[in-house]
Parts: sequence; C-alpha cells; structure tokens
Amino acid sequence: MTCDNSYIVCSIDDIPNRRAVGLVLARIDEATGGEVPYPVVLVRWGRRVVGYVNRCPHAGTRLDWEEGQFLDTTGERLICGKHGSTFALADGACASGPATGSALERVKVEVIDGDVVVGGVRLAVAE
Ligand code: FES
Repeated sequence: MTCDNSYIVCSIDDIPNRRAVGLVLARIDEATGGEVPYPVVLVRWGRRVVGYVNRCPHAGTRLDWEEGQFLDTTGERLICGKHGSTFALADGACASGPATGSALERVKVEVIDGDVVVGGVRLAVAE
C-alpha cells in the first residue's frame, strides 16, 4: 500500500505484454463502510498499463468471454463476451456493438518502479 489511497495490486511482470488480466479487488463502499467486490481488468502495452472496471456499460455484465479472456481475436480491443461489443484499449471507448456511444469506466492506474498501482478509490487491504 502507498499513500493517498493508492495501492500496489501486482507487478507489471504479472501481466504479459499486450495482454489483459482480471483482478477482483475489494473496495470500501462510502455509504455503508462495508467491502464490495471491485473487479478490474488491467491491460499492458509495453511499460504502460491501463485499467477499467470489469463491467460492460451495455448490460452490466463482466467482460470476459471466458474466465480471464478479455481481448478480441486481433488482440487490439477488449471485447464483451455477452453481446460482443468491442472497446479501445487506450481509452475504453466502445468501438462496435450494442454498447456504442458508451465507454468502460476507467480505473486510475500508474506503474511505479515496476509495481502496478491503483488509485482514486478506497480499497480494503488485507492485513
Ligand atoms: S453486456 Fe456487453 S455488449 Fe451487452
């Protein structure tokens, strides 16, 4: 854990280059103070990692078409397994399919000294 509500969630080496991995983190719900699941997908491109909430804006389902599988056949877009909407890796904007006009919810991610750091939310931290 780092300061200012930012958290090391994995090493960049845990994400193969040009691949996406899913993690289910736990977020603190501000209204109740309880923990709620916070599923995210992290995409690595070289030394850069972008993150999105693993929830399709069309119908709210997880994106993976098979557990841990997030990319389309080109490997250049995220794809929703439910109805096939595709999303740009760089900004999460829908590129095709029934979610057109919407975008994935961004997760604030930085790579610091090889660690993938998620910020902007309060995560539950295992002691
Ligand atoms: S739920 Fe993702 S495209 Fe419909």
